Amino acid sequence: MNKYVIQGGTPLSGTVTISGAKNAAVAILPAALLVNGTCRIENVPNISDVCLLVEILRDMGAKISYLNANTLDIDCTHVRDVESSDELVRRIRASYYLIGAQLGRFGHARVALPGGCNFGARPIDQHIKGFEALGATVDLNNGFVCAYAPENGLRGGRVNLDVVSVGATMNIMIGAVLAEGTTIIENAAKEPHIVDLANFLNAMGAKVSGAGTDHIKVRGVRALRGGSYSIIPDQIEAGTYMVAVAAVGGNVLVRNVIPKHMDCISAKLREMGAKVTEYDDAIRVQRTGLLRRANVKTMPYPGFPTDMQPQIAVCMALASGVSFIRESIYDTRFGYCAELNRMGASIKVETKTAVISGVAKLQGCAVRACDLRAGAAMVIAGLAAEGETVVEDVEYIERGYEDIIHKISGMGGSIRRMETAAELSIPAAV
Ligand code: UD1
Repeated sequence: MNKYVIQGGTPLSGTVTISGAKNAAVAILPAALLVNGTCRIENVPNISDVCLLVEILRDMGAKISYLNANTLDIDCTHVRDVESSDELVRRIRASYYLIGAQLGRFGHARVALPGGCNFGARPIDQHIKGFEALGATVDLNNGFVCAYAPENGLRGGRVNLDVVSVGATMNIMIGAVLAEGTTIIENAAKEPHIVDLANFLNAMGAKVSGAGTDHIKVRGVRALRGGSYSIIPDQIEAGTYMVAVAAVGGNVLVRNVIPKHMDCISAKLREMGAKVTEYDDAIRVQRTGLLRRANVKTMPYPGFPTDMQPQIAVCMALASGVSFIRESIYDTRFGYCAELNRMGASIKVETKTAVISGVAKLQGCAVRACDLRAGAAMVIAGLAAEGETVVEDVEYIERGYEDIIHKISGMGGSIRRMETAAELSIPAAV
């Protein structure tokens, strides 16, 4: 387990450049299984979740080569109909996209139930409902999802999602692309990465329309062919650095963003006292005065993202007055609050609501990254706090943040990564 050591208290300044969207990349890579030919994918974030998917696909026989750290050629023409490595699949939540991709490509799939961040029960019943609407039979056996297309292949169907699910929307799109006939997804999620997946699939010859609305139509095609695609900037990574500037103070230009995707976060930061200026593909965040209290309720896009909830909590912990966060997507996503309280925050959690009484300052101490976004919140808190903060279990953070040490150092933040004895193969007792 590695650590970040942070010296807090220095305002952030300069620029930071946002990487490609994690949640788009982790769907687009498996979707490449459906393509005959080479997909050149640009702006791929260099994060551990992507590295795992590359390993999983290579295991299946995909030819993948990196042209540089963020551009890869992926050719799945000759992938074998073999099971994905359970050990790798369980380490990443988004491995559920392999179900839709294998089902579409081979007519059957057997994939270990996904792992990833733990926010309580994370069922995949809506994914299954969608595959069944395409004619598939799906079983859950001993921790595996097994799906089988009928003998004459998947056929288009209509599915009305009972909950707005990002993963189910994207998985059904992937499964439906090569099905015969038309698939309609009602009550679809509208996140930017859903539009990005649709654009990728269409660039390879698919016929997906309506992505970004709650009614998506997929007209099945016989085959997909290779092509080039560039992944959109990561909304959550951009939001994390915007919130960091607001929490710590300073003046930073956040580059390579789509400002429209950031509307909800920009509005909340303005409400809390930051100055947010939008440009074509960049946003400047400035904060010198006091932070004001605010309320947040997490919602599907275009609402305030649950994946920004722990980060905005750090701003609220330092704002004047009492702020409220209502988590409406997950059952439990406040595990990080106990860690922030160790730093001097005053947060009470009442089931799905966090009541945050602002304090004048946080103090550095040793804290854990409980999950990916909670880990990002700990880094922000460390940068804002007095003294030294040590964030443990940073492997979570590196699942989703490319080059976080260099990006923060580039803005003047003091952060370094410490590899533990275990990773260096030095006996811990020495
Ligand atoms: C994706 C994101 C994750 C983000 C979440 C919500 C990826 C890889 N991960 O996760 O970072 O926090 O969207 O924006 O893109 N649900 C069901 N049945 C299902 C599926 C979901 O009840 O079959 C529920 C979930 O328990 C949750 C809600 O629907 O309460 C939303 O989940 P969903 O949008 O599916 O999240 P993920 O796709 O897992």
